[in-house]
Amino acid sequence: MAPRKLAAGNWKMNGTTASLAEVDALTAPEGCGVLICPPATLIAAMAAQVQGGVMVGGQDCHAKASGAHTGDISAAQLKDAGASHVILGHSERRADHGETDAQVAAKAGAAHGMGLTAIICVGETDAQRDAGETLDVIARQLAGSVPEGASAGNTVIAYEPVWAIGSGRTPTAEQIAEVHALMRERLSARFEDGADMTLLYGGSVKASNAREIFAIAHVNGALVGGASLKAADFAPIVAALAAA
Ligand code: 13P
Repeated sequence: MAPRKLAAGNWKMNGTTASLAEVDALTAPEGCGVLICPPATLIAAMAAQVQGGVMVGGQDCHAKASGAHTGDISAAQLKDAGASHVILGHSERRADHGETDAQVAAKAGAAHGMGLTAIICVGETDAQRDAGETLDVIARQLAGSVPEGASAGNTVIAYEPVWAIGSGRTPTAEQIAEVHALMRERLSARFEDGADMTLLYGGSVKASNAREIFAIAHVNGALVGGASLKAADFAPIVAALAAA
């Protein structure tokens, strides 16, 4: 089995019911998963609206199944709303909500328990890259954020350098290749089917750079923010991945 290609859109805190029409123009090409992770308020409606094999996911879940956690959402609730995936440990959640590797691993375990695929995010800051710490940071985040029980069937890893998110700056192909090679090596060493896990790159992916990024070894797709909000921007990225 080879890693399955995945083009994933992260709408972050963008979109209202008027935005749902964007998914009407999306379909999943043969051999290529297409996923949109809208705000939680839109998951159920989007799940009812998507066609052509397009999937819907959440942007976070709580590690617990239920209880007194105001404002949080459980993996079971995401599943019930029609989600198949959930993004976990995004750098914005690590920064805004102080999420730790251990918390991300616990959330991923909860997602797996509900049959959701966890998209676990890792990535270095500008300062960490400048200090030459990138590979250490990625290795540490991977070791701490990916729980036992992860497999190619229930886990996707997204490398998102914090400095590349929403900035229009992307790493060089060599920089992406170096991190993805490290991730593949660490995941293969730890998990029986680590060689088959889908590895995404994220951070200022757009139609104009997608082809070059998808040509990099061990890049099996993308986690796309801004360019996933409009089908006109996202569809060409999906097409580039299908052709890669
Ligand atoms: P941008 O594509 O807007 O840089 O966002 C990337 C991201 O954070 C996806 O999770």
